[in-house]
Order: sequence, then structure tokens, then C-alpha cells
Amino acid sequence: MYKSAVILAAGKGKRMKSNLPKVLHKVCGKEMVNQVVDTLRKCDINDIDLVIGNGAEEVRKSTENRGVTYSIQEEQLGTGHALMCAKSFLQGKDGVVAVFTGDAPLITEDTVKRFIEFHKNGQYKATILTAIVQDATGYGRIIRNEHGEVAKIVEHKDCTEEELKVNEINSGMYCFDIKELMINLDKLNNNNSQGEYYLTDVIELLKNKECKVGAISVDANEIKGVNSRAQLSEAEEILRYRLNKMHMENGVTIIDPKTTYIDLDVEIGSDTIIYPGNVIEGKTVIKKGCTLYPNSRIKDSVIDEGVNIQSSVILESHIGRNTTVGPFAYIRPESNIGENARIGDFVEIKKSTIGNNTKVSHLTYIGDAEVGSGCNFGCGTVIVNYDGKVKNKTIIGDNVFIGCNANLVAPVEVEDDTYIGAGSTITKKVPNGALALARTKQVNIEGWVDKKGLRKK
Ligand code: UD1
Ligand code: CA
Repeated sequence: MYKSAVILAAGKGKRMKSNLPKVLHKVCGKEMVNQVVDTLRKCDINDIDLVIGNGAEEVRKSTENRGVTYSIQEEQLGTGHALMCAKSFLQGKDGVVAVFTGDAPLITEDTVKRFIEFHKNGQYKATILTAIVQDATGYGRIIRNEHGEVAKIVEHKDCTEEELKVNEINSGMYCFDIKELMINLDKLNNNNSQGEYYLTDVIELLKNKECKVGAISVDANEIKGVNSRAQLSEAEEILRYRLNKMHMENGVTIIDPKTTYIDLDVEIGSDTIIYPGNVIEGKTVIKKGCTLYPNSRIKDSVIDEGVNIQSSVILESHIGRNTTVGPFAYIRPESNIGENARIGDFVEIKKSTIGNNTKVSHLTYIGDAEVGSGCNFGCGTVIVNYDGKVKNKTIIGDNVFIGCNANLVAPVEVEDDTYIGAGSTITKKVPNGALALARTKQVNIEGWVDKKGLRKK
């Protein structure tokens, strides 16, 4: 079924005190407006128009991969005016348009579906999504007539003493009959305390024409708007709790959900255990049976089954099955670590491939290298990949044993089944089966300490 929606996203968000347009601030790793778009898409709403104005170019850039259209509101004259700016989007359409705001990212798929069903089943010309709240400060109030029907919405600043006591609030989300909406948008005026064209006034206009107006009340946590940094963190907390709960329902153990930060699009397999202090970002996939010990950041990476990670940073990389990472490892973008491997403490890996069963246990740097399987890196190995001008490649075969404190100066190749002596600086190819030694021979000067009178009795 063909469904349309408009998302109002032209406001400045003054109270955010930010250079970034408000709707681009992120909750659980995703721009608020994109979270709204993604939720609508899951409800088969495919025809989505964004009303943009403040920071229009930035908003367009951050949303353009989501296949939405745009209407421009040059001057922000109110929510009613914003929807007027989407006229060419609505023109010629009939049926229902749902209206959302780009600064209320907590709305769920289930609620959107229920909302639209309710609107259609009730044959309303407009339906308002509302909530009952303890503190209604700042919100428009839903004013009902003596029959309990919605009569109008009054903005906080325009409320009488009596109206201020109403605790049913307007979420700013609506379904409208497109034809009726178009007719009534033209009738709005800005005769109110803020001198704005209020979209909310459409409700009273419809009601005066004896049109049926519906309201459906939902959990207040779903309609929270974000106007300040404090509200941004509240929204984040609600969403985080929801996401963590979903993962736990899917069989993931999260020891302390309050201190586990998982982005919206992360996937996690069952029987994975997550200790406190983990931050899992972007499009990361963590497969089954992994253990994330405390304090790692994992971004846009794929972690295969049975991997253990502790206190490490992994960016845009792939970790193979049953491999151990950390504590204190740093795996930089475009790295691919094999199965049953070990990347230990103070190891940095950059844009490199590491084969299965290879161990890089401590204090090592590997950059721009292809490393085979079954290798062992001694403590303090450095791949010298940068000559001051360009990054060069190092190729290391299978079953290579590198002694401690070796340097491999790229470009260089080390063939299969070789040994490199501790402290060597390798600048030439090491052929299959060889032991490479590249260090000065040891010289002992007998009796030197006594001759110099340096012995401490
Ligand atoms: C609006 C509602 C209020 C409701 C509240 C819920 C009106 C008049 N009031 O008030 O009843 O309780 O939302 O959060 O509609 N926007 C534009 N262009 C504009 C003005 C706003 O695109 O000219 C966008 C903003 O970017 C924002 C949304 O509309 O995404 C809501 O605007 P905002 O100014 O925050 O409205 P509220 O005062 O919160
Ligand atoms: Ca708002």
C-alpha cells in the first residue's frame, strides 16, 4: 500500500546551542531525523518528504542516501507554514499523509502502524497522537469538548489557567486526509502569542466544519521531543534501554545495561556476553558466543563467533572466529584478522591481513602488511611501513617466527617457514626455510669493568 509522510525538520533548535542543525544530532549513533525516516520505512511508508530550512544543505547531505524528497522552508514561520511548504509534495495526492517531526526520534514501528490503522478505521479527517504526562510544560494541550471529543489544540503559551491544567499533550505527530489538510492550511493565520502559523490550528478548523477528529494516546516515552542537550541525553537513555532490552530478549547477556552503549543498527548473536563499558557503534555485527570483557570500542566491524575482546579499539575491521583481542589492542580500519589468532596487549594493526593461528602477543606494530597463518611475532616487532614519503607493503608467508624487537623495513617479503633472529632489521627478502640475522655480532671486552674501576663491591 502506498503511504506518504512529511517530516518537519526546518527548525533551528536554538536551545541546542549548536552549529549542527538540531535534527542531525544523534541518538544511539544515528541522526534523529534518519531514525524517524528508518522507522517509517519499516512501516512501508515509502513516500517521505522532509521539510528543511535551517542547515538545509547539511540535512540534505546527511539524509540523501535514504531516498526521501525535500521541500524548502526558507523562513521558519511555524509548523503550519512548514507543512504549507510541502504543498507540491502533497498536490495531486489523496488518502492519508502522516506528519512527524525530525526532533522526536523515539516513536516505534508498532505505534506508527497502530496510529495509521486507527486513523483509517475511524474514518477521521485528522488524528492526533497524544500522551498523558505528569509535566506538560511547553507542549500543546489537547482540549476536549463536553462529549470528550477533541475540540482544539492550544499551545502552552496561549493556554488559559484552566487549559494549563490539562495533562494530555500533542505529540506533534498527526495523520491527515490530504484534501482536507490542503484546504485548511490555506486558512491558517498567525494570530497568536508567537506570531507563528500553527499546524495545530488545523484541528479547530476541521472541527468547526464538523469533520471527525480522532486522538490516540500512547506511552509518553515514544513522543518525547528533543529541544536541548539534556533532552537529547534523556532520549538516548530511553532508546538505549530499549535496544539493550531487545538484545537481551534475543539471548545476549548484558551485565550492566546502564553502562553498555549499543548503536541502533548493531547486530549481536545469542550467548554473547557483554561486560560494562563497551561502546558498539555503527553497523557492527557481533556473532554468537563472543565475550566482550570491559571497556572496548568497536565500530563498523564484523566479529565472528567465539571471539574474546578486552579493553580494545576495533575500527572497520573483521575478526575471525575464536580469536582473542586485547587487552589494550588497537585495530585500525581495513584490517582482517583470521581465526584462532591472538592480538595481545599494546599491539596496533593497521590495514593489514593476519592469517589463522597467528600470534601477535605484545608490543607490536603491523601496518600495510599481509601476514600468513601460524606465525609468531616476538615482543616489540615493528613493521616499518613508512619511508617518510609513502607507505610500503610487507608480505609475510605462513609459519614465520619473528624474534623479539625485529624491524621489517617495507617493502619487504618474508617467505614461508622462516625465522628472523631477535633484534634484526630486515631490509631484504628472506627466502623459504632460511634464518635471517641482521644485527651486528656481539663483542665481549674482557675485564673492562675492573679496568675502568666501575665494579660496585
Ligand atoms: C509543537 C506543537 C505542540 C506540540 C509539540 C510537540 C505546534 C504549533 N506546536 O510545538 O503542540 O506539543 O510540537 O513536540 O505545532 N518546524 C519547522 N518549521 C517551523 C517550525 C518548526 O520545520 O517553522 C519543525 C521543527 O524543526 C521541529 C518541529 O517542526 O522538528 C516542531 O517544531 P517546534 O518549534 O519544536 O514546535 P514546538 O514548539 O515544540
Ligand atoms: Ca519541539
